[in-house]
Amino acid sequence: MGRLDGKVVIITGGARGQGAEEARLFTEEGATVVITDVLDEIGIACASGILRSTYIHLDVRSESEWESAVAAVIAKHGRVDVLVNNAGVDMSKRFELTTLEDWERVVAINQTGVFLGMRTVGRAMIAAGTGGSIINISSVAGMEAVKGRAAYGSTKWAVRGITKIGALEWGEHGIRVNSVHPGFIETPMTSDLKAFKDPATRARAEHIVSLRRMGQPIDIAWMALFLASDESSYCTGQEFVVDGGVHH
Ligand SMILES: NC(=O)c1ccc[n+]([C@@H]2O[C@H](COP(=O)([O-])OP(=O)(O)OC[C@H]3O[C@@H](n4cnc5c(N)ncnc54)[C@H](O)[C@@H]3O)[C@@H](O)[C@H]2O)c1
Repeated sequence: MGRLDGKVVIITGGARGQGAEEARLFTEEGATVVITDVLDEIGIACASGILRSTYIHLDVRSESEWESAVAAVIAKHGRVDVLVNNAGVDMSKRFELTTLEDWERVVAINQTGVFLGMRTVGRAMIAAGTGGSIINISSVAGMEAVKGRAAYGSTKWAVRGITKIGALEWGEHGIRVNSVHPGFIETPMTSDLKAFKDPATRARAEHIVSLRRMGQPIDIAWMALFLASDESSYCTGQEFVVDGGVHH
């Protein structure tokens, strides 16, 4: 028996990285997973390699694409039990160099995308009356101030905040909302960074991690699985840091 038997899950930004790993783990645990992304070719290939998963194009910035994606999932599978708001883009720039265009791009994907996802799926869960679990992927940059992260960090703090508001308003509907805060995780988003590529820089970065290693997508997927499953049935409005012990 799987921990997610019978559950229907939507994962945004699931074509690669952490989202793809969550799709793999969740289907192994019995879920039906709808992978969504803007990287259509990679997303289709990813879903074709995972049993009980399909792919739908969904740019998280688009209200109308959210409406049609959720309607398509309900038409096909009859329900949505879990949403993982995982899609995101990185941005590292000193505050004074951050342009309005930089800011608006990151906010649209990392913050507005999460709002639209929560609202669209939250409405469907309320209408169905069956409750559900919404998992918002924030960052350790949403737990503390990180230099060079005016835009990115602000969106990740906002995701932490909207998580708590959703949990407060929707608890009466049996909808749980929690945030996950990854540390250094090796994915296509980060693999080009010096901290991952350059052995000396990597060794220095690993040294500040209590567990002395960079995180892998599966480290986050295990936490997302816990939050998606009924094993976390009394957790809502909380932040779950998965960083190997950097943030204390
Ligand atoms: N990798 C890390 O070290 C790290 C640390 C903390 C938080 N995070 C967060 O984890 C999440 C997953 O990131 P990842 O590390 O797997 O990186 P990734 O780049 O591999 O995955 C992000 C996915 O989001 C998709 N995406 C981007 N813009 C989109 C849009 N407008 N609509 C839909 N999808 C879109 C990308 O195509 C990609 O598939 C992100 O929210 C990221 O901010 C990552």
